[in-house]
Amino acid sequence: MATPSQARGGFGSRIGFVLAAAGSAIGLGNIWRFPYTAGQNGGGAFVVVYLICIFALCLPVLFAELSIGRASQKSPVGAFKALAPKSLWPLVGGLGVLTGFGILAFYSVVAGWTLAYLGWALTGRFAGPIGPEESEAMFNGLLSSPMEVVLAGVFLLMTAVVVRAGVQRGIERACKVLMPLFLLILVTLALRSLTLEGAREGVEFLFAPDFSKLSVEVVISALGQALLSLSLGMGAMITYGSYLSRRDGMPGAGISVALADTGIAILAGLIIFPALFAAGGEAQGGAGLVFIVLPTIFHKLPAAWFFGVAFYGLLCIAALTSTLSLMEVIVSYFVDEHRMSRLKMTWIMAGACFLLAVPSALFMGFFETQDALWGNYALIVGSLLISLFVGWKWGVRSAVAEITRSGHAMPLAAVWGFVIRFFAPLAITAILVFRLLGGGT
Ligand code: PHE
Repeated sequence: MATPSQARGGFGSRIGFVLAAAGSAIGLGNIWRFPYTAGQNGGGAFVVVYLICIFALCLPVLFAELSIGRASQKSPVGAFKALAPKSLWPLVGGLGVLTGFGILAFYSVVAGWTLAYLGWALTGRFAGPIGPEESEAMFNGLLSSPMEVVLAGVFLLMTAVVVRAGVQRGIERACKVLMPLFLLILVTLALRSLTLEGAREGVEFLFAPDFSKLSVEVVISALGQALLSLSLGMGAMITYGSYLSRRDGMPGAGISVALADTGIAILAGLIIFPALFAAGGEAQGGAGLVFIVLPTIFHKLPAAWFFGVAFYGLLCIAALTSTLSLMEVIVSYFVDEHRMSRLKMTWIMAGACFLLAVPSALFMGFFETQDALWGNYALIVGSLLISLFVGWKWGVRSAVAEITRSGHAMPLAAVWGFVIRFFAPLAITAILVFRLLGGGT
């Protein structure tokens, strides 16, 4: 008998789900945004707050989302409708669809940058020595070239092609092979960076917390970054949860995804900061940090051309497995709720997103506002509402029943219930209130 999930197309296996969910989580958030946000927020202190956010808030929210998705077998709007009929909760799903759209638009601009760098790697630009100034000039040149807009469009097109193919054929198959390969390349780069002369300072910057740098702004950035990195707060994990088979253990799957994602973000930091400090650079640099630092170290590796190409190739793919999940949330809303054609909506949404990507590509100020609005605040508000929903409307007991349905025990279920009902809503509200009262900058 076909279960609902089979009828909608689900994941073929648990490992397929883990890799695809990890594929959604691991992306530019880890490699591009984590290092530069950590750099701007003082390094070690940010990292400590980030790790606290991941384990104390985000992991619980991840289980909230996965359980909502699997219990309802729907994408976000439909999920809230199914679990809380005739209420306003589906609006939370609607906010998620909107947020996904907003993130996809600025994210595809950065994804376009990775395509440009892949092109340069292929033509051998990183095989020979490149100094920090030259690297910065290359990056700035890209920002002022019309190519930037074109490449954002190309990336959206690539995303649309895979989303059109549906969940299992497109997403799962690609992730199974590519994610492990990506890890291998990252470890090699980190080893190279860590053995550069002067690397120590970078490691200290990342791990020795200077708590005098702590502020509400740092906490907001860390929370927003942790949510973005785990693809939380906008329903991507609700959607993926709806594709997870009821036979598969959810607790293990969720924890694996969170650990893999956090590990890769830290690994990215261990590539960037040692290399940056070894070259005598400043940690504060903005959105260009990773793009400017990395090209300067490839030539210090044997087989430099290969590493450049493999790194940027895989970074593109990591970005693609994330944009897929963003677009999947948007498209599945129209398919599930309005019975529209997947094919048609995929193209229409890719086009609409491109229109919002253009101003992001042209104006740095617009880009930064979008990044903060959707990538930080919208996700924080979304997670608050999702916690309130599970804690106070749908109920912790129903959620735990769903999480343990496969017969796999959920470790610390009581603690989880407490976090979702009290700690997460209060902590997130407190952070937002402090920010509103002007506690930040
Ligand atoms: N988690 C992705 C990253 O770190 C971004 C993302 C956010 C993807 C929200 C899907 C949903 O790159």
